Amino acid sequence: MKPTLAAFPATRLRRTRRTPALRDLVRENSLTPGDFIWPVFVRDGEGIEEPIASMPGVMRRSVDKVVEAAIEAHALGIPAICLFPYTDPSKRSEDCAEAWNPNNLSNTATRAIKAAVPDLAIMTDVALDPYSDTGHDGFVEDGEIVNDRTVEALVKQAISQAEAGADIIGPSDMMDGRIGAMRTALEQGGFANVLLLSYAAKYASAFYGPFRDAVGAAGALKGDKKTYQMDPANSDEAMRLIERDLSEGADMIMVKPGMPYLDICRRAKDMFGAPTFAYQVSGEYAMLAGAAQNGWVDGDRVMLESLMAFKRAGCDGVLTYFAPAAARLLNG
Ligand code: PBG
Repeated sequence: MKPTLAAFPATRLRRTRRTPALRDLVRENSLTPGDFIWPVFVRDGEGIEEPIASMPGVMRRSVDKVVEAAIEAHALGIPAICLFPYTDPSKRSEDCAEAWNPNNLSNTATRAIKAAVPDLAIMTDVALDPYSDTGHDGFVEDGEIVNDRTVEALVKQAISQAEAGADIIGPSDMMDGRIGAMRTALEQGGFANVLLLSYAAKYASAFYGPFRDAVGAAGALKGDKKTYQMDPANSDEAMRLIERDLSEGADMIMVKPGMPYLDICRRAKDMFGAPTFAYQVSGEYAMLAGAAQNGWVDGDRVMLESLMAFKRAGCDGVLTYFAPAAARLLNG
């Protein structure tokens, strides 16, 4: 719909910007704690909150501390938490069997959070990188990341997460055919109500650097992820991936990274209308938090502005390390 504007002075667009009340009245988008999924790093031990150098303000937490964080998130009105394990190198192996160990860190944390805060939604990550000795999201054979054998392992991982009580399963591996395989296995396994939030448009991005430090994959990663994650130059391909994953049984889709890919968010929402999320990833967090720490930008304001941008771009919500800090501000 093309707006018709009368000429100046009949039209003075500054009229609606004159006072806070008028600005409230015409505001097109809103941001609330209900828009956030909070990614949390889990490690072993007890009573531990260990800072991550490249992500000021973000911690690796032992399971008991993750439970405390989950209780706080729920109290702040954040609807969901997303678990990322830091797996001890001794538990990483070629066959990645730790990924479907019912007592691995992710599953242990899921059960502990469910027991303490049953109303908080728990999202888990499906990909082999925390468990492989190569740092890749799939199995490597002769230098190649193999698809079909990886999908079989990812299905086992997803089922073990559903058994532990995950509400939302987030496959972030970018293998072909994994959404359909997981949806079938979930239906057959008695988990018809478990959601799949597919990282459908995940780019091979330099913005994941601090995350790989956080989960201990930076040193391990051999080569890059360009044969499975997307080329940052592509947009049509993202639409094909999203269409494919929705048709295989994804309930919601993710665009990742976030801020440099807001055009993809908008296109995806306009084209499919499905619940659409973006991941404001570790490198985006580090840029904003680092600049704020140096006094170069106003940290609170850039945080809220960056998060509102996702809503404006058509996202229903955003995975963000800022979730608790932003929720605290928004709650006043
Ligand atoms: C891998 C995974 C990555 C992130 C989440 N899951 C990084 C990667 O692809 O190597 C990055 C998240 C972030 O940077 O905050 N399965």
